[in-house]
Amino acid sequence: MNTEYKAIKVKPLGGAVGAEIYGVDLNEMISEQQFWEVRKAFGQYSVIFFHDQKLTPEKEIRFAERWGEININRFFSSVGGYPKIALVVKEPDQKNNIGGSWHTDHSYDKEPALGSMLFAHEVPKSGGDTIFTSMYAAYDTLSEGLKNTLSTLRARHSSVHVFGAARATTGNDDTVGRIKNPEQATQESIHPVIISHPETGRKALYVNPGFTLGFEGWSDEESKPLLDYLYAHATRPEFTCRFQWRAGSIAFWDNRATWHRAVNDYHGSRRLMHRITIEGTSLS
Ligand code: SIN
Repeated sequence: MNTEYKAIKVKPLGGAVGAEIYGVDLNEMISEQQFWEVRKAFGQYSVIFFHDQKLTPEKEIRFAERWGEININRFFSSVGGYPKIALVVKEPDQKNNIGGSWHTDHSYDKEPALGSMLFAHEVPKSGGDTIFTSMYAAYDTLSEGLKNTLSTLRARHSSVHVFGAARATTGNDDTVGRIKNPEQATQESIHPVIISHPETGRKALYVNPGFTLGFEGWSDEESKPLLDYLYAHATRPEFTCRFQWRAGSIAFWDNRATWHRAVNDYHGSRRLMHRITIEGTSLS
């Protein structure tokens, strides 16, 4: 346990990213002191986890709204009657999962999401973990030469290739029916490749394999070798942690400081999660 914390218990999950939080019942309106410490842990560990929280959708929304305004998801179905809660589900007969390769959410938006909260409702008996990796660690361990070069670059991010019409007509991916409104996949944004995190001030690598197309002023082909290098570097095992879900677990990750990937190793079982995304700010 991290003994700096007094009002909650904080158990780090890895050397670079991730901590489990204990001693908090999110069914209650947690005290300002506890919330302050939860916020501190979010800043320190970039993804925080809770277990054994049986929340109604109203309580999920109430906890999420303590962090900021909720982004209404354009592309996922929502939980019936709750447009603020997106459904992330894989049925026993489906092969592809949502978020099965490394990405960070909403980097295609002009003001990318602060974070995303995932509430586990049904999980497979085994498998279905989520892996996280730290973009602070990825940045900190680059050479000074590459840090300097990257600090002069900006990158292009897009939603079109992931959620747009071309993807929606691809026949061999059964997430297609679960992704809605391909005509609304028009978001394209440019962000610095190295950002100063808006709350912690720490520098982080801000490109990702899901949504980054290339560097501003460079072709995709020219960008690819350097992006591939950064992607391999950023997923070194020592920068990661792996979270095993139980029904009632919650993960809340910082989209400016992490990537994540949902492991697709539970064919034949159902996994059903509620996701709420919190709006962020522009990045510099
Ligand atoms: C996501 O990428 O938002 C889904 C992650 C997960 O299902 O573990």
